[in-house]
Amino acid sequence: MFDVIGQTVKAFSQIRLGPWQALGDVLLVGEGNLSFAKTLLKMPTAHITHMIATTFESENNLPDGATKNAQIIKCNGAQIMHNVDATHLEKHFRSEKFDTIIFQFPNVGSRDSKYGHNPNHVMIRKFLRSAGDYLTPDGRVMISAVDSPHYEGAFQFDAAAKFAGFETPETYPFDPSIFSGYSHTNTNDDDSALDDHKRFATWVFRLKK
Ligand SMILES: C[S@@+](CC[C@H](N)C(=O)[O-])C[C@H]1O[C@@H](n2cnc3c(N)ncnc32)[C@H](O)[C@@H]1O
Repeated sequence: MFDVIGQTVKAFSQIRLGPWQALGDVLLVGEGNLSFAKTLLKMPTAHITHMIATTFESENNLPDGATKNAQIIKCNGAQIMHNVDATHLEKHFRSEKFDTIIFQFPNVGSRDSKYGHNPNHVMIRKFLRSAGDYLTPDGRVMISAVDSPHYEGAFQFDAAAKFAGFETPETYPFDPSIFSGYSHTNTNDDDSALDDHKRFATWVFRLKK
């Protein structure tokens, strides 16, 4: 009887965690205040074997809380890098391979179209193409964003996956309440987009074989 209850509880918590399990060697890009990396590192179910957490901003231009979070991350054995452009990982990495590459709530912070496309779609296409070179054979890229037709229209994840040589991504609900200590920040200010929206999702991309 207790076995059945235990197994049911385990099954529910696995469903809730979705893809945030057995992450292996992890690279995080566009981490902003680094609070997601810090939280993930402390989650036993994430099973992280190594982590490099990166920010687009320079060390002198980080959002509130980032410096303290960076210290905690380093004390837990992970690495921090700054000025890392997710669309050009070859400028920062050589032969390293990662099981999981994560970009939480990507946003270029501009509405100016690029080559006739939404700038966020262009960024995601370039990020996926670059990330593909740094994945282990069964590795995956995970991107979380607001789950709404507006955001999906801006990012066009399926088209970006096709462009960059990935399968059509799988989508899982993203529940920020699982990640206690994660305080998402916007690109251009310190407010949180998580306050303005209710539904979020994580898109999981795997390379075409
Ligand atoms: C909405 S914020 C999210 C920050 C953080 N990931 C979070 O969830 O709180 C978007 C982030 O994308 C970063 N970003 C924009 N363009 C980027 C690029 N080319 N490479 C890496 N990060 C980028 C910004 O610096 C910003 O930190």
